[in-house]
Amino acid sequence: MQWKSLAAAVALLTHNAASQSMMRFSCSQLVIERLDPLVNPAMSPSPHLHQVVGGNSFTANMTPVAYDPVAQSSCTTCTFSEDFSNYWTANIYFRARNGSLKRVPQMANQGLTANGGVTVYYIPPYDGKTTVTAFKPGFRMLAGDPTLRSKTNMQRQICHRCFSTINQVPFGGAPCTGDDTPSFPTKMCNGGIRSTITFPTCWDGKNIDSADHKSHVAYPSSGTFESTGACPSTHPVRLPQVMYEVMWDTRQFNDKALWPEDSTKQPLVYSTGDPSGYGQHGDYMFGWKGDALQRALNARCANAQCKELKSQSSADAMKCAGTQVVKEATEGWLSELPGGMPIA
Ligand SMILES: *[C@@H]1O[C@H](CO)[C@@H](O)[C@H](O)[C@H]1NC(C)=O
Repeated sequence: MQWKSLAAAVALLTHNAASQSMMRFSCSQLVIERLDPLVNPAMSPSPHLHQVVGGNSFTANMTPVAYDPVAQSSCTTCTFSEDFSNYWTANIYFRARNGSLKRVPQMANQGLTANGGVTVYYIPPYDGKTTVTAFKPGFRMLAGDPTLRSKTNMQRQICHRCFSTINQVPFGGAPCTGDDTPSFPTKMCNGGIRSTITFPTCWDGKNIDSADHKSHVAYPSSGTFESTGACPSTHPVRLPQVMYEVMWDTRQFNDKALWPEDSTKQPLVYSTGDPSGYGQHGDYMFGWKGDALQRALNARCANAQCKELKSQSSADAMKCAGTQVVKEATEGWLSELPGGMPIA
């Protein structure tokens, strides 16, 4: 499978020779849970459901710095075993013609072995030499906005890709290029759907969070992160580019009889109640041990191989799976979304 993993990373950016220097690794599912320590701290349950990966100290209230995921976790679902960060996104549900809903499971990404979860990337600038500063303890941020129902005000580089076959090769260019859509795809995807969430890459250098969980970070003021575009003067510190890929296995739902009769409509909804896809978002809570992430970035580690870091087998990563705290039905055919989120 080794060549496949490399092939996938290279296919992501076929136009760029430095593409091998991005960290790309798997984080299996930790838990499917209605908790959100970033947006709704201490609230249990939080309004909408998430799929969460990373350190097993994930809980409703993770006060910056005081609650240290490194000290509190005994394991992580990520390949790099010093990464106790938490990464989470909304879930996707399929709404059948009769109105019943069923969670769309995730699947392992190309070349990786995992129980669903998220493929996590830490990407340095493509010139092969510009340095980036790793996140500080307690750092957290949000990308995307669950309330959006159109492209207006969407953050950059958040999209969906419709695959015609499983493990489609080539993948089809960099994320958010080609036929990728910010909304859900409007047709059946025989190979499932990949969602990509890319976080901002410039930091104000002071705050590990902000009221909207976004204002302490920014996008480059000109050009792109990849091309080492300059950070704005208000946010001068260049961060690694964090990107999530989530592979949704829609195959069991690719049945015309279950799809809407109105062929202009598509049947997927986010657990937030979003039937458009524009509200796709991701939450990030930093939790790497010591300076492990900085060392790996300085060494420009590639894929899931990094001699600067300790790693674990996929089997061990999967063993770290946790149990749901907010007990509720999330699986099988449901009459409403978890938490009763209205679909609109
Ligand atoms: C709706 O359709 C699904 C798929 O055919 C089925 O399994 C489910 O039981 C139906 N729900 C109701 C309430 O009839």
